Amino acid sequence: MSKFVIQAEDLAAQKKFAEALYQNYHNEAQSRGYEFTFSIRTYGCQLNESDSEKLSGILKTMSFVQGNTDDPDLVIFNTCSVRENAQDRLFGNLGLVKAMKRKNPKLIVGVCGCMMKQEENVEKITKSYPFVDLIFGPQDIHRLPELLYRLHFTSKRVYDVSKNDYLADDLDLPIDRSRRFRALVPIMYGCNNFCTYCIVPYTRGRERSRPFEQIIKELNNLAAEGYKEILLLGQNVNSYGKDNAGMPDFADLLEAAAKIDGISRIRFMTSHPKDLSDRVIDIMAENPNIEKHLHLPMQSGSDNILKAMNRHYTREQYIRTARLFRERIPYGTISTDIIVGFPGETEADFADTLSLMREIRFDSAFTFQYSVRPGTPAAKMEDQIPQDVVTERFTRLLELQNGHCFDSNSGVVGNVEEILIEGRSETAPHILSGRTMSNRLVNFTLPDDIDLPDGTHLEKGELFDGDRLEGCLANVRITGARPFSLEGRWESFTHD
Ligand code: 5AD
Ligand code: SF4
Repeated sequence: MSKFVIQAEDLAAQKKFAEALYQNYHNEAQSRGYEFTFSIRTYGCQLNESDSEKLSGILKTMSFVQGNTDDPDLVIFNTCSVRENAQDRLFGNLGLVKAMKRKNPKLIVGVCGCMMKQEENVEKITKSYPFVDLIFGPQDIHRLPELLYRLHFTSKRVYDVSKNDYLADDLDLPIDRSRRFRALVPIMYGCNNFCTYCIVPYTRGRERSRPFEQIIKELNNLAAEGYKEILLLGQNVNSYGKDNAGMPDFADLLEAAAKIDGISRIRFMTSHPKDLSDRVIDIMAENPNIEKHLHLPMQSGSDNILKAMNRHYTREQYIRTARLFRERIPYGTISTDIIVGFPGETEADFADTLSLMREIRFDSAFTFQYSVRPGTPAAKMEDQIPQDVVTERFTRLLELQNGHCFDSNSGVVGNVEEILIEGRSETAPHILSGRTMSNRLVNFTLPDDIDLPDGTHLEKGELFDGDRLEGCLANVRITGARPFSLEGRWESFTHD
């Protein structure tokens, strides 16, 4: 695979395909009397979400509009291959799409994302799901106009996953951001770490950092457009810039981002413990607009397993970094990723994981059962752990972590926290939800009769429209804790 920076002329060529399709779909829509619609189903991480925002932006330049999920003209599955269950979900859903396609033979079905970089998945689709019209990879997002053009004008399936590690600058692509106040900003693509369990380096290719000036320009644009929160994204943000000698590093980028006026919150993920520098922690401590939340995947607490995972840090080094963060940012939170049942994990290794969890007391954790990824070194390791052992360990781990989550949340009851409002609570429409500066989820109530920041008034009993408050900041008194969320009462809006 080679690194391949997309040139302006390549993107200009894509634009030509998009214009031709725009004319085509626009005219057809006029004669049939309604617009062409699309639906994108996204699996997996925030980088996939970001890719879907680009797919959506590109489709809109071709006159498509966002439609419902039941009967769109075009459906795209943006897949994830990090664990087996995400893969299974795709095939389950493709089975359902078969019926949709029978009802509407003109439905265009596309599949993209990490799973398409694994030939066996493309083969399975070719054999068992031949109604899929379009297949492309995670590096081919910018090529969607060309691929759709070929499909449209040849009426033959287009299965085209490129081998290049493309780097198209996001500034040159239309992005249809799914949140009004939060912008996802990838700063680098790919991963060089080859953790032995992980498929990502094979699907997303080698690390490619976006040019520093272009990221800063994008952030300035976002601030001017009124975005309140920026998520700097990458598989390993702390190795930003290392692929080009003399380039600024992640600490430089974070510091420069924090100086941009108008952005209230900056968060970043994911940090690899081997690459997170003390300077990044200092910069987090010094800048009030950098969120006090660190996502620091530990994966295992056993040195033997960390070694077999090719993680390049020890338990002691991990503890040192986490302690430093706790000391410098006492109000901050640490979340982590933990894998249970990596090949060869003994009861003693697992006990080391539990003891590391007790030592750090993670504020939250994403916990996973090891999933064999064909093609990775761990898949060939002897001593794969039987499922019943994994399940039993996983239960113990969850129990411990749930207690830590609850204790952590209980520690902030009584505080007044600044909440960035995300909208209505998913479970109760009269309750708003949002996050603290340390990324804790808070559900809170508004009083009756209240003036809103947009100058409107909310009457007693009126069901509020969550959208009206999305992106506003409010001070909220925390009144109760649950393991995965807090409860609170609105006190005031903060005007920035
Ligand atoms: N099995 C289980 N979990 C995995 N992860 C990555 N690969 C696997 C796998 N094969 C987890 C890691 C990573 C997170 C994004 O997904 O914990 O940090
Ligand atoms: Fe996968 Fe490791 Fe890279 Fe994370 S750092 S994406 S776990 S290879």
